[in-house]
Amino acid sequence: MANSITIKNKINRFNRSISVSGDKSLSIRWVLFSSIADGISEAKNLLMSQDVLAALKAIKRLGIKSIVTQKKCIIYGKGPEGYNYKKNLTINAENSGTLGRLILGLLINATYPIRLIGDRSLSKRDFSRVSEPLSKFGAKFELTKKKYLPLFIYGSSNLKPIKYFEKKGSAQCKSSVIFGGIKTEGTTIIKAKKSRNHTELLCKYLNLPITINRKKIHDEIKIKKAKVIKPLNYNIPSDVSSSAFFLVLTALSKNSDLIIKNVNINPSRTGIINILKKMGIEVLFRNQKVYKGEKIGDIKIRSPKVIKSINCPSKYNSSAIDEFLIIFLVAAKANGISSFTNLAELNQKESPRLKWAKIILSKMGIKTILTRDSIKIYGNPNLNIKKKIIIKNYLKDHRIFMTSVIAALSFGGHWEIHDKDSIKTSFPNFLKIVNDLKINDKKKKYN
Ligand code: S3P
Repeated sequence: MANSITIKNKINRFNRSISVSGDKSLSIRWVLFSSIADGISEAKNLLMSQDVLAALKAIKRLGIKSIVTQKKCIIYGKGPEGYNYKKNLTINAENSGTLGRLILGLLINATYPIRLIGDRSLSKRDFSRVSEPLSKFGAKFELTKKKYLPLFIYGSSNLKPIKYFEKKGSAQCKSSVIFGGIKTEGTTIIKAKKSRNHTELLCKYLNLPITINRKKIHDEIKIKKAKVIKPLNYNIPSDVSSSAFFLVLTALSKNSDLIIKNVNINPSRTGIINILKKMGIEVLFRNQKVYKGEKIGDIKIRSPKVIKSINCPSKYNSSAIDEFLIIFLVAAKANGISSFTNLAELNQKESPRLKWAKIILSKMGIKTILTRDSIKIYGNPNLNIKKKIIIKNYLKDHRIFMTSVIAALSFGGHWEIHDKDSIKTSFPNFLKIVNDLKINDKKKKYN
């Protein structure tokens, strides 16, 4: 079937060094910060995926020019108040929650109403989580059924700073309010449950008026209006969330070793590494350095002899939030029952991922017990699938596609996985890397 792939063979052992594409969170943030910077910003290794291209299209609608070449991307920022708002403007965030939610923070003083739309998956996701805090600044919103896209934002010329308590551990909510604070005279105060902190680190690097007080569970962030923003030249490191698929492929293979080069290993993103280590898998960081506030390094992983089950501490949830589907595959092969709790947020992603985890695992013959916010996975160290498995109608969630490919390569069976194009949102060269790992086995090439 067009746009689906068939996988009938497990991958052979490998011993390789690979690179994955640029970090999605940083790529989208680079586009947004550069769009409000005073002057020309350049990025190398920007992720060229649909989510990031949607961000470039969005700023273009706001009058900000960009040029993409093979080697770099250039954005011609016009300063914090440089957007040129046209009447009847529609911005399409396509599949990207990060773009849709963060850009709203930059639009709270828009001079004309702006309509924000997204694809079918994004239109099922909650936007009241950002419209509620942003309306406290003075902007007004009209959402579909009070929660969803399409929405209208009506900016205000009389913004007031806010106090906001972010309780979900959502970096998108926190970042959206930070952007609101950048636009607003006075001090915006945010108390935020720990989540990825790229926005704060970029504010710091850009010398914006931000202070961050790190506490054990929450961070306290104070942000004031940014009058000038210097251009942001950035060499985007590789994405740990994209790396995760190959880390797990190695963890589930026999006698294999893998090095993934130059990955963003910011501790607010590396929950998967902590979880894999707890499951008895050897993972190391090498060549560590700090780049513009972000920790970067190579990740080295070796396939284990046995995988231990885990009672996953929920302190890792936020730093592994995009990796749980793939982590659940490791639990499927573990020796014993693994349990993951407090994960209601997983059902708020591109698809309801906790529910999909149960669907995929049960197709694989793995017993699970699911609640609205938790899953127990009954691991089977000898799992060897023989039957046909079809994965389809999953709202084109890129991570469901890639997780299914890794399951097929690791556990066998005859898999038909639909909507291959889904990878274009976050990791367009995913299948190319899979093929490169299988290079000695030309019969098993997937397109
Ligand atoms: C992201 C934050 C997370 C994550 C998403 C990217 C970001 O979402 O799932 O893929 O770049 O800020 P939440 O903030 O909704 O947890």
